[in-house]
Amino acid sequence: MILPPGGPGVPGGAVPPGGGDGPIPPGADHGQLPVVIAPMRARDLRSVLRIEGQVFDEPWSKRLFEEELDQRTSRAYRAAWVGNQLVGYAGQMSIDDEAHVNNVGVDPLWQGRRLGTLLMCDLVRTALARGSAHLTLEVRVGNEPAIALYRRFGMAPVGVRPNYYPQGGDALIMWVRDIDTGEYAQRLSAIEGSLAPFVLVDRRT
Ligand SMILES: CC(C)(COP(=O)(O)OP(=O)(O)OC[C@H]1O[C@@H](n2cnc3c(N)ncnc32)[C@H](O)[C@@H]1OP(=O)(O)O)[C@@H](O)C(=O)NCCC(=O)NCCS
Repeated sequence: MILPPGGPGVPGGAVPPGGGDGPIPPGADHGQLPVVIAPMRARDLRSVLRIEGQVFDEPWSKRLFEEELDQRTSRAYRAAWVGNQLVGYAGQMSIDDEAHVNNVGVDPLWQGRRLGTLLMCDLVRTALARGSAHLTLEVRVGNEPAIALYRRFGMAPVGVRPNYYPQGGDALIMWVRDIDTGEYAQRLSAIEGSLAPFVLVDRRT
């Protein structure tokens, strides 16, 4: 999987000092790097928490992530890597035939490069592999980038949870039903197809 060239998002230091210990894509060269989506591990949490603290007003704690990662049968947390830098993550919880999107976060330096779309594709594929037929989530009212992303995946608002967030703010409840149908498979394939032609230019010097 590859991303669009150019744009302001590629940071000069694509690999953090000291590097990471996550996946390095096979065959990568310094001109073009695929994105690799892999299961989130406890050792990834330092990077995850760095992003979490930047993108959420009420970030999850390390302990909460650890508890989530421990629940392997009902939870699936995935991380997106460019080289050995963790650039985003997404998590879900399965309840019966429903998958609940717990979070999607992309490093602010890498936003707008379709990583969120890529993570959502992976999330839906993972949900389907786990037998989910429906997808739901809560998102802060007014979080337009996220709402636009979810709409792309067929999710529609069905209601509001007032004062959902402890520090204040309402949540929009969104659902998409019947993700296990041929019709939805076409939607998902179209989104995945739209990601394929793009190329990430690695601007490391
Ligand atoms: C929401 C988020 C995950 C999207 O990640 P991303 O990698 O920037 O998303 P993409 O580049 O794949 O963009 C997907 C769609 O989101 C929408 N979008 C992205 N950035 C946007 C912006 N600044 N304003 C409006 N819409 C935007 C667009 O509809 C876009 O579709 P397009 O590719 O056709 O333009 C990211 O903005 C983020 O981490 N936000 C903070 C955390 C958060 O709010 N998470 C969601 C709630 S759990």
